[in-house]
Amino acid sequence: MTVSSAPGKVYLFGEHAVVYGEPAVPCAIERRASVTVEARDDDRLRVHAKDLSIDGFTVEYSSETNATPDVNVSESLVRAGVGYIDAAIEQARDATDTPDAGFDITVESNIPLGAGLGSSAAVTVAAIDAATRELGVTLSSDEIADRAYKAELAVQDGEASRADTYCCATGGAVRVEGDDCRSIEAPDLPIVVGFDGGAGDTGKLVAGVRALRDEYDFAAETVENIGDIVRQGEQVLADGDLDELGKLMNFNHGLLEALGVSSRSLDNMVWAARDAGAMGAKLTGAGGGGCIVALDPTDETKTALRFTPGCEDAFRAELDTEGVRVE
Ligand code: PMV
Repeated sequence: MTVSSAPGKVYLFGEHAVVYGEPAVPCAIERRASVTVEARDDDRLRVHAKDLSIDGFTVEYSSETNATPDVNVSESLVRAGVGYIDAAIEQARDATDTPDAGFDITVESNIPLGAGLGSSAAVTVAAIDAATRELGVTLSSDEIADRAYKAELAVQDGEASRADTYCCATGGAVRVEGDDCRSIEAPDLPIVVGFDGGAGDTGKLVAGVRALRDEYDFAAETVENIGDIVRQGEQVLADGDLDELGKLMNFNHGLLEALGVSSRSLDNMVWAARDAGAMGAKLTGAGGGGCIVALDPTDETKTALRFTPGCEDAFRAELDTEGVRVE
């Protein structure tokens, strides 16, 4: 039996624009998905997912591949989770040259599902690491990131950047531009996350931005402007100037809003954080619902968010310098 875990992440800058070749800076946070893998005698997969809480529910199911999970919450999200596991196992079989390997798999996560915190990337990365180790092969974090990216591409119909999977595999703050991925220096960041209890549909949101960009010049320019903010943000991150970093996050949120990927609850939480004195706040990930990320060294933002309509949970999240690891 092998257990591996990988961290979730927030986007400090650059989601959506990264899909069009602009840089993005995600940063791993101390919330993890862990995947337990045990090789079977046959070629089947049995996936058991627990603690994947959505709206306070706990999803408990067991399924053979292609069987219908017995679930009482958003089935498509659960199926998507199983889809990532299937794609991760395909990658692990390929990496180890064992096309018929079967596994019993248990997924545990305290990363809100589909909410912009990289839950699917963390599960995919941890599953590839655990399954390959279970078969006696240890991959580098770069190779795990590359294979997890391919798995995400397969599940998301070809719409994915390397940002989430690279960040979850490597940990810390990273910079991603096209195929170029690397770690960058970051100071301790006073990250606060607000979660509206919901989730956005990444595929639909990415397609929406693509359509807007095809139709309106302003949208194409907005994507480029986000790229400019990311480049400035990298410099500010290296300088450790948190006030300026917060300002740039605010600008980035405004541009994402213009691209139509924010929501009322995300905007409410962003404004509540700013009113509470956060240095800056923005949505993180695909948007449409899910999480915001704010910077505030005090507890004011966390407290204010908990009283904000539409906010279901608020928590502090330290930057996690460790990426995928065997437990
Ligand atoms: O919501 P998340 O954490 O899956 O992030 C999506 C980020 C996008 O830039 C919108 C898409 C991508 O693959 O980079």
